[in-house]
Amino acid sequence: MDNIKSYINQHKDRFLNELIELLKIPSISADSAYKNDVLKTAQAVKVSLQKAGCDVVEVCETKGYPVVYGEKMINSNLPTILVYGHYDVQPADPIDLWDSLPFEPIIKTTELHPEGAVFARGASDDKGQMYMHVKALELMTATNQLPCNVKFMIEGEEEVGSESLAAFVEENKEKLKNDIILISDTGMIAMDTPSITTGLRGLSYVEVEITGPNRDLHSGLYGGAVANPINILTKMIASLHDENNHITIPGFYDKVEELSLEERAEMAKAPFSLENYKSALDIDSVYGETGYTTNERNSIRPTLDVNGIWGGYIGEGAKTVIASKAYAKISMRLVPHQDWEDITKLFTNHFESIAPKGSKVKVTPHHGGQGYVTPTDSIGYQAASKAYKDTFGKTPIPQRSGGSIPIVALFEKELKSKTILMGFGLDSDAIHSPNEHFGIFNYLKGIETIPLFYKYFTELSK
Ligand code: BES
Ligand code: MN
Ligand code: MN
Repeated sequence: MDNIKSYINQHKDRFLNELIELLKIPSISADSAYKNDVLKTAQAVKVSLQKAGCDVVEVCETKGYPVVYGEKMINSNLPTILVYGHYDVQPADPIDLWDSLPFEPIIKTTELHPEGAVFARGASDDKGQMYMHVKALELMTATNQLPCNVKFMIEGEEEVGSESLAAFVEENKEKLKNDIILISDTGMIAMDTPSITTGLRGLSYVEVEITGPNRDLHSGLYGGAVANPINILTKMIASLHDENNHITIPGFYDKVEELSLEERAEMAKAPFSLENYKSALDIDSVYGETGYTTNERNSIRPTLDVNGIWGGYIGEGAKTVIASKAYAKISMRLVPHQDWEDITKLFTNHFESIAPKGSKVKVTPHHGGQGYVTPTDSIGYQAASKAYKDTFGKTPIPQRSGGSIPIVALFEKELKSKTILMGFGLDSDAIHSPNEHFGIFNYLKGIETIPLFYKYFTELSK
């Protein structure tokens, strides 16, 4: 549709400037020091939805950060698309590793982004991708081509587990009623290789604490004679994988869905260069579970990773000390059919059982969620596929992602609707990492592709 492109061309500078304004607010949900900024961002999202054409916009209070809800209902006989996204972002640290400040967005060109990319925390995850939907709505209302009803639900706690949203969804089933949920909070294979995410991994996130002696000790006077919590913790963690990088927790793999050889062969058709993968990360070899390819390891297989580990003396110079306590934060990425609460229990029982005498172990679950897979023969998938075909000139490739958006499984359970994951980010966007960025090409392509999804979904729903 030519008028989509011309509207974007005419307004692209403003689209970009508006996103930059949103990126300036440090809406870090994990850190309570940013509470006012998170709340300010919810207000900014509200105003943007009003301006884009929503008839009803509410900032809905929850126990935590508010959910911004908006809707434009044009005809109850037409389908309703529910757009989900999040306005909160990850913490920016380590700040030193950023080339520019995380909340002072700048546009830079890179080899991959000759048209420029916006560098800021949240540029890709998820403010940039969420805002594509706001601008797509503006485009459709301004050019009189909104083909169906639309609802928006933009939350502020995705990066910390979506606890308040889960309650909000359970309490507002009627309000959130929809025919399909649409999310842009994932990625695509490459700039010229569009893909639709057909799976997300589940997650169990725990914190562990090992206690040895009741106080820090002189490592000469006591060393060798008492259990050193840091030695113990690292040994326990190391024992969680065997020589094939298989996870050793009893029962961990019991419910794992094994893909058929045909399904795996189908997956292997997706374009992927191991050489590029390694060189992008500056590693001379990949690493992982024996018997699986890199793409399988990071999508259809479950994992266990330490995300942080601390204890003892880490200041300047040397201090001879045996710390009383050692800690680690551990994430387990799960695949369909593994229940995150069961896995959390299996982990806890196992971790407690392997602690040697002379040490105490405490496991504290943080958050989690179930994995998700979606079929490719639904009208939602077909509509997305046609939309990408129009804007990229190529049929998108279905791809299961390794990341998690735990609320998606809950949407299916509570709202009984499927989710279509139309991501426009790239792995190189450096989400959750210093120098996060989002390509201007990707941003504008998203705004161009979304209205076509609306069009095809409405047509295919008839
Ligand atoms: N948008 C990401 C998830 C994602 C990114 C999925 C790219 C697929 C491709 C989301 O904001 C995120 O970071 N999720 C967390 C889980 C959450 C419970 C903190 C994650 O995956 O670590
Ligand atoms: Mn996200
Ligand atoms: Mn994220």
